Amino acid sequence: MDDIKYSKPKHHQAHSRTSFDDQTDYGTPASQSDKTVTLTIDDREISVPEGTSIMRASIIAGINVPKLCATDSLEPFGSCRLCVVEIEGRRGYPASCTTPVAEGLKVHTQTSKLADIRRGTMELYISDHPLDCLTCAANGDCELQDMAGAVGLREVRYGYEGENHLKAEKDESNPYFTFDPSKCIVCSRCVRACEETQGTYALTITGRGFESKVAAGISNFLESECVSCGACVQACPTATLIEKTVIEAGTPEHSVTTTCAYCGVGCSFNAEMKGEEVIRMVPNKNGGANHGHSCVKGRFAWGYATHKDRITTPMIRKSIHDEWRAVGWDEAFSYAASEIIRIQAQYGKASVGGITSSRCTNEEVYVVQKLVRAVFGSNNVDTCARVCHSPTGYGLKQTIGESAGTQTFDSVMQSDVIFVIGANPTDGHPVFASQMKRRLREGAKLIIADPRAIDLVNSPHVKADYHLKLRPGTNVALISALGHVIVTENLVDEDFVKGRCEWDSFVAWSDFVALPQNSPEVLGLAMGVPAEELRAAARLFATGGNASIYYGLGVTEHSQGSTMVMGIANLAMATGNIGREGVGVNPLRGQNNVQGSCDMGSMPHEFPGYRHVSDDATRTLFESAWKKPLSNDPGLRIPNMLDNAIDGTFKALYCVGEDIVQSDPNTQHVTHALESMECVIVQDLFLNETAMFAHVFFPGASFLEKSGTFTNAERRISPVRRVMTPKNGERADGKHEQGMEDWEITAKLSNALGYDMNYAHASEIMDEVAELTPTFKGVSFKKLDELGSIQWPCNDEQPFGTPTMHIDEFVRGKGKFFLTEYVATSEKVTPKYPLILTTGRILSQYNVGAQTRRTKNVTWHHEDVVEIHPHDASERGVKEGDWVGIASRAGETVLRVKITERVQPGVIYTTFHHPESGANVITTDNSDWATNCPEFKVTAVQVSRVNQLSDWQQHYQTFSEAQLAFAGKDLEAAKID
Ligand code: SF4
Ligand code: SF4
Ligand code: SF4
Ligand code: FES
Repeated sequence: MDDIKYSKPKHHQAHSRTSFDDQTDYGTPASQSDKTVTLTIDDREISVPEGTSIMRASIIAGINVPKLCATDSLEPFGSCRLCVVEIEGRRGYPASCTTPVAEGLKVHTQTSKLADIRRGTMELYISDHPLDCLTCAANGDCELQDMAGAVGLREVRYGYEGENHLKAEKDESNPYFTFDPSKCIVCSRCVRACEETQGTYALTITGRGFESKVAAGISNFLESECVSCGACVQACPTATLIEKTVIEAGTPEHSVTTTCAYCGVGCSFNAEMKGEEVIRMVPNKNGGANHGHSCVKGRFAWGYATHKDRITTPMIRKSIHDEWRAVGWDEAFSYAASEIIRIQAQYGKASVGGITSSRCTNEEVYVVQKLVRAVFGSNNVDTCARVCHSPTGYGLKQTIGESAGTQTFDSVMQSDVIFVIGANPTDGHPVFASQMKRRLREGAKLIIADPRAIDLVNSPHVKADYHLKLRPGTNVALISALGHVIVTENLVDEDFVKGRCEWDSFVAWSDFVALPQNSPEVLGLAMGVPAEELRAAARLFATGGNASIYYGLGVTEHSQGSTMVMGIANLAMATGNIGREGVGVNPLRGQNNVQGSCDMGSMPHEFPGYRHVSDDATRTLFESAWKKPLSNDPGLRIPNMLDNAIDGTFKALYCVGEDIVQSDPNTQHVTHALESMECVIVQDLFLNETAMFAHVFFPGASFLEKSGTFTNAERRISPVRRVMTPKNGERADGKHEQGMEDWEITAKLSNALGYDMNYAHASEIMDEVAELTPTFKGVSFKKLDELGSIQWPCNDEQPFGTPTMHIDEFVRGKGKFFLTEYVATSEKVTPKYPLILTTGRILSQYNVGAQTRRTKNVTWHHEDVVEIHPHDASERGVKEGDWVGIASRAGETVLRVKITERVQPGVIYTTFHHPESGANVITTDNSDWATNCPEFKVTAVQVSRVNQLSDWQQHYQTFSEAQLAFAGKDLEAAKID
């Protein structure tokens, strides 16, 4: 008799090395019990945790029980009756998916009676199912087909002539998947996936008995509440819900595990391929961040990688008013290198710099900062985190000693109170939002601080306990007022503070927040939030059990962004909510690799691992590894590069994967700076807005075409694996060159500048990072292959990574409190600019939209609109759908209006996914006092009805049309009709 011992799944014992690539469907979820029971199944003895289903225990024991309605991502349902078993001493034939194990049970899964029951059940299913298996898109990948085979069904006695659903109409409204009800077995897996996994509740089973059917809203999927996460498609055991790409191209033949290139959740996917063609992206059930879930972007919006707009040929030109000349790689490298050498000879070393992107892999960022420091000879390297999370880096380093989130995403399942500040997880971080919603449905409390009613405020089965609807720009008032309540009402966790924090700094902080001027009654007036709500929210946070904070760019993109981050850390420390599961300070990173690009030393003052360039020991380490003298002067930040360009001292820029024209504030200032430079080198997939001002274009490779790693918001380093050949070797004349991954392009540019970077593979770059960076010491591609992903720090003490940080002590030793005096922004409303514009993102689009605009996601969002409160709209005579001019002190643009009470009176809101919207034409140069992160969230504006584009938009149309023509491309920009 075999004796089989159960091992817990990986995310519940984060340090163990269980098999991350096990794709087995165990039928029902794992039990979390620590107690085990022993039973016998088909004469095999097995020990499993109490609460495990007999089905799961059987599958662990290697015994396959037939099943249709069960899958291990969903709670058991017990509707199909295919999984029946016999239990000695018990009557009847219980469903193994809904029957838990018990000590000493003797279970039989294969008897002739069970075989009869199962065959009979399958017969009924098949009698109402199209017999088109051979031509069905799911042929070979269909659980119904598998089960018919498994139970030995050979004939259907009932015939197919009776009443059936075979003529039910297909719903093809969703751009990515179809719903063919004729194939539906009403197992309800889709409905349960939408509820349990995604938390959207878009699907229901309507009718009873024979009339039961799956319904999406009142008409179809596209018109329903569905957010196209794909969970139902994945859960469906038949071809009822199936990806259109599978219908078009057939079932995949091999699969490669990689990481989503969109947001900071960092979902793991299996790229299912046919040769070099991606057929579908399927979320990896063992992905540490996503556990098999996905959102519409990662799941479906990958078609941009082969979009016709991609530029696959290197190009050069003398002036931005010239046509581009397509050249070979060698000529492009030697031209770019000669320009850098010429410019440095003429204007000095500091006249050249580089910008990296959070869309780049860690390895790419590392080689760019190495190129700037070791070859350009300065520290003039910056990254797009400058305009998003740089205050997180500063604020968390100051207070707790490490510029990173403290938890795993799974930690939220231990939270009792969840505080979301300036973030919109359902749109920005959808997979994590689903997990958070699950915890909220279990009963955790929710506090939201946001000027706008984000979806989480009130969504199916989730309602915020407090929505603190503060005015944009008053975050620091909020955090000080909450601190005031906690201190003055004796809600401080004194044991924690005494043991873990610098007492003097705490005393100074508590004296400060206790001042009457920091009371909710005083600061509430600035925020526009009733004092009682602030007091109640503070009490809940301090006394409601494990309290965790999740925040986004609504915290950082302010003139007091760094102060607010420090205030958040103060709040967590004062209440003892840091250093264990269920609590902590969690910056939700916008892009996939914000954390990684900062870790890799892409800021002008820090080497990889956040070590200051003036630190002699660190500099010596890098000097001896790179064999080059390095500067100890912090280099230029992006805003300094732009200012210096206009002043005439900054002349050349190497910009990799970032589109500063669209994503940085005050667009006209950015374009003026670029026009002032003599050589702008852009490396990207598309001729983006910045490339229109470039002199050299290096065509980049998409995430599907390269190897490397991304680091998500939980410090989780995940592998990016090449699934297809880089397209940037494809030439219009058919004479193909060798395509290159982006790190190779940087290395070749370095070689052309006379400094050899001879890595054979991205893994060698990570080896160098590990050698030179203590927090990455234990990281390697080999270990990532073994473990699936690793949360840094990963070193001798933590060889399998660190899920929760600051457990016994803070990285800086004692936690330090900082005073958070509220200083109103200088961006004031006036009679001329009486409204505040704030910005954000939506689910279907991503950042500057360069990727998602080139996918069918435009079905949901093809233009940026401005949201305005009905009161403000009627005061201006503006109706739904009107075009309005939005004027600020920096510029003016025109957008279509959406009237909604989601925004409060006095506040308007827009997204920035489309370049022709010019959202950043109106944002100002105001920025965070510590990091220069722009104050994107607060711009004083006026709104008025107009009937033509702004001057800037008209210029943009003409200019971009000409620039695209210079590269042989069409104008894509949407026009006002
Ligand atoms: S659509 Fe698929 S998952 Fe949903 S009930 Fe029908 S067969 Fe089951
Ligand atoms: S795609 Fe996602 S949101 Fe839409 S119905 Fe399916 S599970 Fe629900
Ligand atoms: S965009 Fe974010 S949440 Fe969506 S699949 Fe990608 S990593 Fe996951
Ligand atoms: S799998 Fe158990 S009842 Fe359907």
